[in-house]
Amino acid sequence: MGQTVLVTGAAGFIGSHVCAALLGRGDHVVGFDNFDPFYSRVLKEANLIRVRTAARAGSSGDAAGSTARDACGGFELVEGDITDSGAVRAVFSRHKPAGVIHLAARAGVRPSIADPAGYARTNVTGTAVVLEAAREAMDAGCTRCIVASSSSVYGNCPSAPFGETMDVSEPISPYAATKRACELMGYTHWHLCRMPTAMLRFFTVYGPAQRPDLAISRFLSLVSRGEPITMFGNGQTSRDYTYVDDIAAGVLAAYDRVVEGGHGYRVWNLGNSAPVTLNDMIKTVERVVGKRAVIRNEPASMGDVERTFADLTRSRHELGFSPRVGFEEGVARQWAFDGRTG
Ligand SMILES: NC(=O)c1ccc[n+]([C@@H]2O[C@H](COP(=O)([O-])OP(=O)(O)OC[C@H]3O[C@@H](n4cnc5c(N)ncnc54)[C@H](O)[C@@H]3O)[C@@H](O)[C@H]2O)c1
Repeated sequence: MGQTVLVTGAAGFIGSHVCAALLGRGDHVVGFDNFDPFYSRVLKEANLIRVRTAARAGSSGDAAGSTARDACGGFELVEGDITDSGAVRAVFSRHKPAGVIHLAARAGVRPSIADPAGYARTNVTGTAVVLEAAREAMDAGCTRCIVASSSSVYGNCPSAPFGETMDVSEPISPYAATKRACELMGYTHWHLCRMPTAMLRFFTVYGPAQRPDLAISRFLSLVSRGEPITMFGNGQTSRDYTYVDDIAAGVLAAYDRVVEGGHGYRVWNLGNSAPVTLNDMIKTVERVVGKRAVIRNEPASMGDVERTFADLTRSRHELGFSPRVGFEEGVARQWAFDGRTG
């Protein structure tokens, strides 16, 4: 018999895959999402259709205590904002989750430069609200918090691969700074109430239903239509692209291991440890789509890091994390999905 897990950001790209994975192993899931307008609600509703399909396939009966309108199998979606402490506390008190996987955030490095205060409100204040509601719910059985951080906290670290013990005091975008702030608040949460708490540093995640602002999603669509793509910088920047199913497996492992392993507070990298340059990413997109890209060059953006490259020693050892999907195969899977749906 599974647990009830609260997943914030459930309608998003990674959130919907994490919900499906939890449902697939028999957990009940309560999703929480405000359908932030950063991208279309239609895409998020489509993500939730996949989640509900997984719920129907994977379980019987409603999520614990569910009477709300948007319930299906072991899944229920509550629409609400993580900065609204009344709404967040109500979800905890009604559903009594055994743990929370907090993925809701305003994502995206470049847009954060135009709105640092908005990013801080959602990411920092919102995370404080979720952590505090989890603390209040301890007596009702809430045992752990798993929080999405980002490889962007490494900034332009001079040495690579990036390990969890490296100095991360120089984030170069407001988004990265908010994610580092979340990590610090997570530590404080653990220190004050001893609830096991993990910060997961995701490295550029891609795969079916990828956020439409992210480069692989945009490039697949533009190259397939013969429209120009914009390349920032000289093409030598690199990203440690990580397939979304591998990320979801890492999130579930962290959810289990942060308690079983007696970790208290722990930071784990979830990456692929195989960086790909922007030039090679574009060549892969061309091969997958079967068309040449028309490239427009722009100078590098100030908030973009030079490279990301995950050291997986700790997450392999402590989580058994082992990414399985190679880059070209993952892009082909994404194109098979995006090309079909979009
Ligand atoms: N996609 C990546 O490559 C990547 C890399 C590193 C970290 N992350 C982190 O992973 C998490 C998920 O990212 P994603 O790519 O799936 O993004 P996403 O935008 O697809 O998902 C985020 C979800 O959070 C919801 N949300 C935003 N503000 C909210 C609020 N105030 N209240 C409730 N819900 C809110 C959005 O509606 C959305 O559905 C984020 O925390 C992001 O910062 C993502």
